Amino acid sequence: MLSWDDFETKPQQPEKATEPRPAPETQAKAVQEPSASYTAEATAPTATPASPAAQSGSTAVEAARATVANMDPAPGLEELEMGAARIQVDEKRIINCRADLNQLVPFKYDWAWQKYLDGCANHWMPQEINMNKDVSMWKDPNGLTEDERRIVEYSLGYFSTADSLVANNLVLAIYRHITNPECRQYLLRQSFEEAIHTHAYQYCVESLGMDEGEVFNMYREVPAVAKKAAWSLSHTQAIGDPNFKTGTVESDQELLRNLIAFYAVTEGIFFYCGFSQILSMGRRNKMTGVAEQFQYILRDESMHLNFGIDVINQIKLENPHLWTAEFQQEVTQMILEGMELEVAYARDTMPRGVLGMNANMMEEYLQFIANRRLSQLGLKEQFPGAQNPFPWMSEIMDLRKEKNFFETRVIEYQTGGALQW
Ligand SMILES: [Fe+2]
Ligand SMILES: [Fe+2]
Repeated sequence: MLSWDDFETKPQQPEKATEPRPAPETQAKAVQEPSASYTAEATAPTATPASPAAQSGSTAVEAARATVANMDPAPGLEELEMGAARIQVDEKRIINCRADLNQLVPFKYDWAWQKYLDGCANHWMPQEINMNKDVSMWKDPNGLTEDERRIVEYSLGYFSTADSLVANNLVLAIYRHITNPECRQYLLRQSFEEAIHTHAYQYCVESLGMDEGEVFNMYREVPAVAKKAAWSLSHTQAIGDPNFKTGTVESDQELLRNLIAFYAVTEGIFFYCGFSQILSMGRRNKMTGVAEQFQYILRDESMHLNFGIDVINQIKLENPHLWTAEFQQEVTQMILEGMELEVAYARDTMPRGVLGMNANMMEEYLQFIANRRLSQLGLKEQFPGAQNPFPWMSEIMDLRKEKNFFETRVIEYQTGGALQW
């Protein structure tokens, strides 16, 4: 294990002023030819040179010293009120918060910080999973049926792009509008996890020797995959515009649309057909390395989903004027559109029964999932009585992680505890 001692094995002795180390020829030349970009003011030192480098007349050191000596901290911190009272926890808000974004503590949203810690505790890397059995099975002409091979190809084709779409949406669209440091801390962790997921798909494609061009272009070339990707992309454009700002009813609702499209639909519905197909394959002792990769990804994704649901519900709580009847109807339709797209994907990937499942069973499963997303957002379920035909999926996902902050808090509140933040 590395320690600080590896970087600095013995204390550095200050060089004696009387015995300066001769400057290399190139360094001496650089000193004689200062960059023209330095201003006259910057090259005029305001402090007495003390270090050997400064004593040798280094223009760069003098310029840096002058800049720091003359520095006014206000311009870089202009959004902060210098000398204002310290941040109080009640001032923190998920969106449109004017309190200091650079201060992680005091925590207001403990659930966000806890999810960050849980995400770190679940850290994994794709290379840790042995793919040898999968490679033999994939290369064996009798290893998998044609229908099973299609499922592996479509899953890698859709997911390899979808995780990039999610990562881009986090970094280029959502991050700057979430004005809470503990939530941002989780967004950073989630962004890295999305990079690991993209890495995992690349690792599977490479290990199996698949046609990379075919797999990574499926989101543009295969209709059932392309429609899902296009639906997600259509909900990132407005927020990703550099001129987009929250703070009006319309723009705050647009941000909510984005969060619902990505957390509740893309990560909360679009992943579920492919996940259950690949995990069913693993349960039948086929492509167990790919299945293990997907199992780790599913564990991460169930946490992403729950974080998103908590963020959306917290925004609703802090901004009830956004959650109009009309908007609720629109959100319900978004969830149903997502479900319809996923059912179409199920029909394309399963023209016949395969791996103990078929498209009709998947449709019922997706109705069950859609009901769950609607109720998590406080909306009316649209498929009364829909059952889960794949109860083993819940076991694999570990339902304890599906519990989100709001559901837990509601139970505590009903048993007499005060709702405290
Ligand atoms: Fe992911
Ligand atoms: Fe995710």
